Amino acid sequence: MKNFIFGAGYLGHRFSEALAFTLVPRAEVDLTDLPQLEEFLDREKPEVVINCAGKTSGPGEIGIDWCEIHREETIASNIVAPVNLSLACAERGIYFIHIGSGCVYSGDNNGEGYTEEDKPNFDGPQFYAKTKIDSERILRNLPGLLLRIRMPIDDRPHPRNLIDKLKAFQKVIDIQNSMTTVPDLVRALPTLIRQRAQGIYNVVNPGTISAAKIMAFYREYVEPPHTFEILSVEDLDRMTKGKRSNCVLSPAKLEREQGIRFPEIHDAVKTCLVSYRLC
Ligand SMILES: NC(=O)c1ccc[n+]([C@@H]2O[C@H](COP(=O)([O-])OP(=O)(O)OC[C@H]3O[C@@H](n4cnc5c(N)ncnc54)[C@H](OP(=O)(O)O)[C@@H]3O)[C@@H](O)[C@H]2O)c1
Repeated sequence: MKNFIFGAGYLGHRFSEALAFTLVPRAEVDLTDLPQLEEFLDREKPEVVINCAGKTSGPGEIGIDWCEIHREETIASNIVAPVNLSLACAERGIYFIHIGSGCVYSGDNNGEGYTEEDKPNFDGPQFYAKTKIDSERILRNLPGLLLRIRMPIDDRPHPRNLIDKLKAFQKVIDIQNSMTTVPDLVRALPTLIRQRAQGIYNVVNPGTISAAKIMAFYREYVEPPHTFEILSVEDLDRMTKGKRSNCVLSPAKLEREQGIRFPEIHDAVKTCLVSYRLC
């Protein structure tokens, strides 16, 4: 039996390689086309489906500001598509996993970190986050697993890898954030699938780190001549169309899952950088 991943982008490719799931490009099934999607699922009869489809930017662009000015396309891919897929899977008894975002909060919840039960509080200053909040609000009531990831950091170069994004900037912010290391996420997926985990999970490493600290590690482990300066959040907000979320999530629920261990974020970033340097 084949299992499938929708959304043939960065994470879709990463997960399909690691899990040996078949990647379904948009040209084969557009998730906004419900009859096409249902015909595909009825024909292929998968047991497990992962949704990595979404709009995080547009053709030739990296960055969620694209979503601010392409609202219809963002709603279609970030709300209509996951809801269609979730409903179609529920009707057929297919185990459904959705890759959501942890960028639905602002702040650190008085040092506690936001849990999966805390109501998202970043509903407005940025359109991409708004669509992630709206889809989560609906998917919360449907069967399946929703993984909230944040600022993915990988062990190999890719334009969507946070390391690649940060090294291209002359200035970076120095604010503590929760983040997700992709190799650890990839390692956790088979366990979550085997256990048929349900509901929302904050999939972030324990601890917090800043973009500036990641670049300090980058300089130490990969490219000693690299230079950068610190940018204030106020200046960053002036440079972007939609405000950026800076937040801390609690990984406690994920840590209670048997067989899953995410290393502390500083250690995890260093491990990624050591492999990154060899690529
Ligand atoms: N990368 C991050 O920083 C990050 C962080 C947190 C959460 N996430 C979430 O993780 C998911 C995957 O992210 P990613 O970085 O892999 O994004 P990506 O590289 O942009 O890939 C998304 C893929 O989804 C496809 N897609 C969009 N609408 C579709 C539709 N209606 N039907 C079928 N396919 C569709 C896109 O195709 P087209 O190019 O043709 O539109 C693209 O191939 C997204 O939901 C994103 O919000 C990502």
